[in-house]
Amino acid sequence: MWDPLQYAHFRDARKRPFFELLARVPASAPALVADLGCGTGDLTLTLAERWPGSRVLGVDSSEAMVSEALRRPAPERVRFELADLARWAPSAPLDVLVSNAALHWLPDHAALLSRLVGLIAPGGVLAFQVPANFEEPSHRLIDEVRALPRFAPALASVRRGHAESLAFYEAHLSALGLAVDAWETAYLHVLPGEDAVLQWLLGTTLRPVLLALGPSEGEAFLDTLRPLLRQAYPAASHGTPFLFRRRFVVALRPSAS
Ligand SMILES: C[S@@+](CC[C@H](N)C(=O)[O-])C[C@H]1O[C@@H](n2cnc3c(N)ncnc32)[C@H](O)[C@@H]1O
Repeated sequence: MWDPLQYAHFRDARKRPFFELLARVPASAPALVADLGCGTGDLTLTLAERWPGSRVLGVDSSEAMVSEALRRPAPERVRFELADLARWAPSAPLDVLVSNAALHWLPDHAALLSRLVGLIAPGGVLAFQVPANFEEPSHRLIDEVRALPRFAPALASVRRGHAESLAFYEAHLSALGLAVDAWETAYLHVLPGEDAVLQWLLGTTLRPVLLALGPSEGEAFLDTLRPLLRQAYPAASHGTPFLFRRRFVVALRPSAS
């Protein structure tokens, strides 16, 4: 479903939240680090650079993404695995669990957080970032087109990503005994190129929709969406301004006493 090349467009804008998340992770020498929903693995490799003594696991359920990750030259202590986060578990407790722009594809964040916290060692850190732009015009317009009678039946079971509120994440993680640092950032990206917002969405949000529709209905879906996006996000001569909100959570599990 994922296309590493399309996802690589706008790479700098997509990378920045990862580094802003990692800047708040208070770990100095973790033994075992995992990057869940690691995509093409370039950001996973930066974890190995930051913690030169650690073993680093990148996990993703997309064959295309994992094969791209496996093509990168990497030290022996970095491994990539094809697995679904809904079920994956490491062979030893994790000292740092990072997930950048992936958990919004998984349902039931209350159950998910409990499971992920159970994978972390005492004194370990859970750090994740999820998009929080589901109420922005881009996503409302996708929903509008999804609901048209022509497309709705084929898309009925296609999951829409979702993020919970900061208060939800804080409440659930503190109830599990973690100390939580949570915040939201709105980035005003100025995207280059024609139909830039559509190009951005083709890298992520629209992937499951196009996969379910197939090539010809997929084209029809894009032909319907394109003019709506052009109107909602007018292109200026210097690029197309595109507001994108993201939520960040860094939670520290207390050390065993
Ligand atoms: C938007 S990409 C982010 C990739 C990478 N973390 C980054 O920041 O560049 C989301 C990734 O999550 C992965 N993903 C989505 N659902 C998943 C699941 N249930 N199990 C494992 N990976 C999943 C996708 O295959 C995709 O590579």
